[in-house]
Amino acid sequence: MTKKKYKAAVIGSGNWGSVAAKLVASNTLNLDSFHDEVRMWVFEETLPNGEKLTDIINITNENIKYLPGIKLGHNVVADPDLEHAVEDANMLVFVTPHQFIEGICKRLVGKIKGGVEAISLIKGMEVKTEGPCMISSLINKQLGVNCCVLMGANIGDEIAMEKFSEATIGYREDKEVAQRWVQIFGTPYFRVSAVRDIEGVELCGTLKNVVAIAAGFVDGLEMGNNAKAAIMRIGLNEMKAFSKLMFPSVCDNTFLESCGIADLITTCLGGRNRKVADAFARSGGKRSFHELETELLQGQKLQGVITAGEVYEVLCQRGWQESFPLFRTVHLICIGCAPPSAIIQQS
Ligand SMILES: NC(=O)c1ccc[n+]([C@@H]2O[C@H](COP(=O)([O-])OP(=O)(O)OC[C@H]3O[C@@H](n4cnc5c(N)ncnc54)[C@H](O)[C@@H]3O)[C@@H](O)[C@H]2O)c1
Repeated sequence: MTKKKYKAAVIGSGNWGSVAAKLVASNTLNLDSFHDEVRMWVFEETLPNGEKLTDIINITNENIKYLPGIKLGHNVVADPDLEHAVEDANMLVFVTPHQFIEGICKRLVGKIKGGVEAISLIKGMEVKTEGPCMISSLINKQLGVNCCVLMGANIGDEIAMEKFSEATIGYREDKEVAQRWVQIFGTPYFRVSAVRDIEGVELCGTLKNVVAIAAGFVDGLEMGNNAKAAIMRIGLNEMKAFSKLMFPSVCDNTFLESCGIADLITTCLGGRNRKVADAFARSGGKRSFHELETELLQGQKLQGVITAGEVYEVLCQRGWQESFPLFRTVHLICIGCAPPSAIIQQS
């Protein structure tokens, strides 16, 4: 019998976190070198009926708040204790909204053993005084673990229903590790490929959320499909230019992978950033993003508005504002310094 060398744990249990746990758990059952059980760390919440989310997940095998109606797999175990959830695991999947990852890493410092591999499914970046830091680098620096990324045209609810989708894994050097991640995420309905361009893949996943906000404004203003396609084209160009200025090693081909053009299209057509920005524009910019997020997303988090602010900070730090009119304008609209219609006039 093959020795079970690998144990996976998922850190995060929102919509995408729950789907990630389902995907991984469906594979660990069939891979001899993996332990069957997949622990999923849950940021504990008390539901309106007084029950704990973790208990409900373990009793019903469903995350009734973030992914209702979908069985996660009997080998997924929800755990509200972060340290306990990662104990003994040597393949860590990070999948939380990006604003929480720094605090989570701080709690894990010194708790991760040698030989652990990580992957981040998180879209976003942290901007510090010394410059921007991608989430995979933050995990790598804080925890001393190698960290790949997985991004793609992945609306969680569709993959949960096992509808066909593709994704891209970005890795730095170790192709063998990347292939192991391909093995534990890939299924016949979730086709995963790996490319050696970690920064390119991660920046695609991060920046497309800003373009999706712009697409939502265009929808809310009822400007039509041609205008939306124009926003997507301009947005893709800015994504590419920004990524290459930040990291000259970023490859052109990465923008043609699932993490690039495909994710941009799906997010601009169907994602949550588009949806909330649409409502914002329809209110004439009078309702706040925070209010709309609470009303429309039922606990899910909006990433694009925060990312637009982070990108704007980088543009200011580096004097690049003039070269990125779409990114700049999205942020100015989000903070109320320009009307939603500026998205077309100024981009
Ligand atoms: N949902 C998707 O379709 C999708 C697809 C691809 C990538 N992503 C990315 O995956 C990442 C995770 O998103 P998601 O959809 O799983 O989450 P989500 O927005 O559905 O849920 C929010 C999560 O944050 C948790 N949370 C709330 N406050 C917290 C705190 N203080 N500390 C830690 N956790 C807290 C909640 O319990 C919940 O699990 C994001 O970067 C997102 O961009 C999402």
